Amino acid sequence: MQNEAALAGTLAAAAARLALPPGAALRFAAVDDADGTLPAQLRGAAPRRQRGFLAGRRAAALALGAGGTVGIGADGLPGWPAGWIGSITHTDDIAAAVVAPAPAAAIIGIDLERIVAPALADELADLIAPEGLPAANPRDVELTCAFSAKEALYKALFPRTRQFREFTAALFRRAADGSPQLTLAEDWGEGWTAGTALGAQQVVAAGHVLTVVWR
Ligand SMILES: CC(C)(COP(=O)(O)OP(=O)(O)OC[C@H]1O[C@@H](n2cnc3c(N)ncnc32)[C@H](O)[C@@H]1OP(=O)(O)O)[C@@H](O)C(=O)NCCC(=O)NCCS
Repeated sequence: MQNEAALAGTLAAAAARLALPPGAALRFAAVDDADGTLPAQLRGAAPRRQRGFLAGRRAAALALGAGGTVGIGADGLPGWPAGWIGSITHTDDIAAAVVAPAPAAAIIGIDLERIVAPALADELADLIAPEGLPAANPRDVELTCAFSAKEALYKALFPRTRQFREFTAALFRRAADGSPQLTLAEDWGEGWTAGTALGAQQVVAAGHVLTVVWR
């Protein structure tokens, strides 16, 4: 496996291709390097979870710049500084965070996934994408793209709607130019109605899929 710093660098170079809201920033942090002060909720957590949390906060602080810090709310969600929205994701190795000035985006969600093994993709396909997977890429890549896009969508909308949604609540498709698209298959609340279409900003690099969904 590549070391985490090299992986972060490869993913950052790929992420530069994503179209983000004006004023947005996306940064990575290696999980192994993570340190800092844990909030009370995380003090009894497994060391890996603690490092993932801290790496996510480090990525968020880098994205905010100028000493920006991100707390944790009573609901477990990140507490963004006034005037900003954002989202955090982590794998075992790498954390990433995206932030945007609140006027530039109403919602934003990020997700980073390692591409799943082909056998697991076959096992999960009906659960994650019962609408069927596009054939643009091998099934393991497409399944991971669909999964990551739907998780990023959920993470973008949940802070607004506060409603859980299953993987059937949105459809993953590819537009004629191959770009990933999400369509809400049911009402998500707060005016996010069935039929709403959102583009997913997505890159596949270094065995991972990175997705940002924003509007
Ligand atoms: C919440 C969920 C999306 C997190 O995804 P994950 O791949 O396990 O974890 P990630 O590393 O990408 O993201 C975790 C981070 O997301 C944030 N987060 C957690 N729950 C969240 C929520 N409900 N909404 C927005 N952000 C959330 C936190 O910052 C968390 O990291 P932290 O606790 O260290 O701060 C996932 O656990 C889940 O519940 N999925 C089912 C719902 C879903 O995706 N439906 C699809 C609808 S089409």
